[in-house]
Amino acid sequence: MERTFSRRWRALGACALLIAACASSDLDLDERSGATSTTPPPSESTVSPSETAGTPQGAMGADGVGDPYYPGLGNGGYDVATYDLDIEWMPDTGTVDATAAIVLVPTEDLDTFNLDLEGLDVERVVVDGEEVVHAHAGRELTIDPAALLVAGDDVEVVVDYGGEPTPIRVGTDVFRVGWHTDGRDAYVVSEPAGAASWFPANDHPTDKARFRFVVTVPSDLGVIANGLQTSMSDTGDGRTTFVYEASDLMATYLASVVIGDLVFVEESTASGLLLRSAYPRRLADAAATDFADTAAMVEVFERSFGPYPFETYGHVVADEVLGFALENQTLSIFGSDLVTGRGAIDAIVAHELAHQWFGNAVSPATWMDIWLNEGFATYAEWVWAAGSDGPTIAESAAAVHARADFGVPPGDPGPEELFQATVYLRGGLVLYALSQEIGHDAFDRLLPLWVERFGGSAASTADLRALAEELSGQDLEAFFDAWVYGATLPPLP
Ligand code: TRP
Ligand code: ZN
Repeated sequence: MERTFSRRWRALGACALLIAACASSDLDLDERSGATSTTPPPSESTVSPSETAGTPQGAMGADGVGDPYYPGLGNGGYDVATYDLDIEWMPDTGTVDATAAIVLVPTEDLDTFNLDLEGLDVERVVVDGEEVVHAHAGRELTIDPAALLVAGDDVEVVVDYGGEPTPIRVGTDVFRVGWHTDGRDAYVVSEPAGAASWFPANDHPTDKARFRFVVTVPSDLGVIANGLQTSMSDTGDGRTTFVYEASDLMATYLASVVIGDLVFVEESTASGLLLRSAYPRRLADAAATDFADTAAMVEVFERSFGPYPFETYGHVVADEVLGFALENQTLSIFGSDLVTGRGAIDAIVAHELAHQWFGNAVSPATWMDIWLNEGFATYAEWVWAAGSDGPTIAESAAAVHARADFGVPPGDPGPEELFQATVYLRGGLVLYALSQEIGHDAFDRLLPLWVERFGGSAASTADLRALAEELSGQDLEAFFDAWVYGATLPPLP
């Protein structure tokens, strides 16, 4: 009780001394740290002796998690528990007016910490009810609560922000990631690092959290987001507010909101999983055809990979020629160009569905481990083909192996070309070769056990090797060196 009380007053004191600084979004951090050492306000006398020392007692949370490809992604010193994002979309100006309420838990005592946010303006940051000092430069929003944040104690951070979200180019020359708009509709595709274009985030897959989205749009538009819709209400002035809750732990890059003239559809799989989707009105019939096999795919994959890992699944089609699909958690997104009504995109539909187990439930520990997402999803395409009267897995693997020499190791494609073919295709071949190397009994247990053991968190290539060694009793060092990290594609076993 006393600590809470004194923290409040210290926060108020710091802000009162720094009215101008508290209102400024581009405050220089050095200036601020000088200012906070001024004489404390009278209420300071209520703090315990250990808190009165003028020197910092905690750490400055690091501005990155040290990812080998993108060291500045994410931040150190805390884990986010929940993101509660309240976003108004104003298509006329292409801007958002937003508030993010974030609950996080420091993993060490913190004097300051960072969130990732790029290209939007921060109006105000409130920590545990009191406005605090912040600085925003590039991708880093640095927050300086007046009092120490204590390891293990929940902290509520509220960031008021807004502006025109702009997609970011990172990790690939192909995709610009983040919040996109065509001037009316909006959609989010963020892998690997676009989340920071639309909300303040600990933007790395090692920090998963639960999400709630409160999205307000002009009433002629609809909204879908990850998770389940929990309410939809008319604001009475021509706008509608949609609320979605995503209660399974989710990496920031998989968070997505899609806004457009949407038709909503629902069905259930035989095992009782709710499939809910949203399509642009003009594409609803074609989409119904192209996604018709989803329930059957869920069944095939549950047999091979274990239970579907989340509360719901479905597809959203953005009314844009994107040329791609992305496995947003519980809600894969497809470009309108993929949807033709000819029922010809099963491989992509299966691929994105498989990512829910591989990539989403089990996230890559670093972006260098991207083949754990794409190689597994590619292998799953072959599983679906084999399970639906197509070629056997061995035939699919042989055809891919013959296609190119894949002379870049899937376990180290480099930060510039994260999504190149070797990551997908040679990555898929790694799993096929592994099934030959450790035998089908061990391999059939490997994939579901991988999800059971690492679901809800992140895992590395070393974790995969350890699990395969545990199940097979074999030493797989040479196998992983050759298949995952070797410069040349090994012959198929
Ligand atoms: N992970 C996607 C896939 O299913 C590819 C992808 C990576 C992507 N980054 C993206 C798609 C950004 C759209 C936007 O293979
Ligand atoms: Zn993929």
